[in-house]
Amino acid sequence: MSDSSSGSGSRREVSDSSSGSGRLWGGRFSERPDEAAWRLGRSVDTDVRLWRHDLDGSVAHAAELRRIGILTEEEHTTILEGIEAVREEFAGGTFVFLPDDEDLHGAVERRLLEICGETGGRLRAGRSRNDQIANDLRCYLAEALDALVSAVRDLQSAILDQAEAAVDWLAPGYTHLQRAQPVTLGHHLLAHAWALDRDVARLLDCRGRTVGQSPLGSGALAGLTLELDPERYANALGFAGVAPNSMDAVADRDFAVEFLSGAATLAVHLSRLGEEIVLWSSKEFAWARVGDAFSTGSSIMPQKRNPDVAELVRGQSGRVIGDLVSLLVTLKGLPLTYNRDLQEDKPPVFDAVDTLMLALPAMAGTVRSLAFDRSRLADAAGGGFALATDLAEELVRRRVPFRAAHERVGEAVAACEARGVDLTDLDAASLAALLPELGDADTAALTDVATAVSRRAASLGPAPARVVEQAAALRRRIGSATMA
Ligand code: ARG
Repeated sequence: MSDSSSGSGSRREVSDSSSGSGRLWGGRFSERPDEAAWRLGRSVDTDVRLWRHDLDGSVAHAAELRRIGILTEEEHTTILEGIEAVREEFAGGTFVFLPDDEDLHGAVERRLLEICGETGGRLRAGRSRNDQIANDLRCYLAEALDALVSAVRDLQSAILDQAEAAVDWLAPGYTHLQRAQPVTLGHHLLAHAWALDRDVARLLDCRGRTVGQSPLGSGALAGLTLELDPERYANALGFAGVAPNSMDAVADRDFAVEFLSGAATLAVHLSRLGEEIVLWSSKEFAWARVGDAFSTGSSIMPQKRNPDVAELVRGQSGRVIGDLVSLLVTLKGLPLTYNRDLQEDKPPVFDAVDTLMLALPAMAGTVRSLAFDRSRLADAAGGGFALATDLAEELVRRRVPFRAAHERVGEAVAACEARGVDLTDLDAASLAALLPELGDADTAALTDVATAVSRRAASLGPAPARVVEQAAALRRRIGSATMA
C-alpha cells in the first residue's frame, strides 16, 4: 500500500505521482500543484459534513458496479467493508484528512485504498465527483430541511401557547407604527405563526425537489458507457425519480437556491418578530418582559436588561439574505455544465442551515419567556382614537356615504383633540352632540374597545372566537395538541 506522503517529494514527479493520495488526478501532469493553488481548491473542511451522504452514495454505487459485473462478489464485499470502516472513523471522529486530500471524495478513496488495497481504486468507475457532489448536497439538504421544519414548528408552537393564553386580551393594532385599530393580542401573535406556516410550506416544497431528481449516472456531464442504472441509484438513495438530462443534473443548483430563498424569507420573518420583541420590551411600549434566560445585561449599566436574542436574530437575517445572493451570483453566467465555481455552493447553504438552527430554538425560548402586561395592553388598545373607523362605519350603516362619514368623524376627532379627550372618553350625550347622525345608535357599545374587537368577527378577524379557531387550525397544521 503506498502511503499518502506524495506531497513531500520534489516538485517534478513521475506521471502517477497522485497514486494512493487523495488527489484523484495527476496522470497527465508533470508538476505537482502549486501550494497556493492547492490551498485554494482544497475543500475538505467544508465537504466534511457530507460524509454520510457520500458514503451512502458509494454503497449504492458499489451495488451497481457489482450488478453489472465490474466488481466481483469478493471485491464488492471488500469495498463494502472498507466503506463501513470509513463510516466508523467519521462517526467516531477519528477520520484524518491528509494534506493531499483535495476534497471529501478524494479523501474517502485514499482511505479505501489504505484499507482495501488496490480494490479500493475500482469504486471510481462509472462516476464523477460532479454527479457525486450534486447527489451529496441534495441528500444533505433533505435532512437539514427536516430538522429546520421541526425547529420552525416548535417556534410556532411557542407562539401558539402565548396566543391561546391571550385570545381575548385587548391590544392596540398598528399601521405606520401609529395606533390604528384595536385587536386581540392572540390575533397579533398568530399573525407571526401564519407567516412561519408559509415558511414551512416553502421548505417542504423545496425538500420535495431536493430529493426529486437523482443526478447519479450523469458522470462528469455526458452519462456513461457502463450500463449503470440511474433508477436503481434513485431508489437506493430515496429520490422520487431520475434527472431527465445529465448536463442539467450536474450543472443545476436550483434546489440550493430554492432552499436559500426559503431560508432568507424565514430569516426575514424571524427578524420582524425579533424587531417586535425589541419594541415590546422597551419602556416606551412595555408590553412584555423577556425572561432573564433570554436577556443580557450591560458591562457598565447595572440596571440594563437587553433583548439580545431578538436583536441577534434580527441581525443574522442579513447574513442569510447574503447567502442567497452569494449563490445566485455564483451561478449567474456559468456556462454548462460543471464549473469549479460550483464548489462555492456549499458555504452559503451550510451557513444558512447553521444560522437558522441556532436562531430558531433561541427565538422559541424567547417567545416562551415573554410575560405580557395585560392591563397595559388594554389601556393602550382604545387610545389614539382607535375607534374612529367604527364610528364612521356606524354612520355608513345609517346611509351616510363613507366619504362624508370620514369627514364628520374626522371633525369629531379634531374637536376631541382640542378638548384633550379621546372619543372613548365621551358620554352618550357628548357623542350625540358631536355626531347627531348616530341617531339612536348604542353609543356605549360604540365606544367600548372589547365590544369593538368582538364585532370584528369575520373569519380573518381579531374577535376572540376567531382567534380560538385560528389557533386550532394552526395546531392541526403543526400536528400538536391544543392546550387544555
Ligand atoms: N469539491 C467539488 C465541489 O464541491 C467536487 C466536484 C469537483 N469536480 C471537479 N471536476 N473538480 O464542487
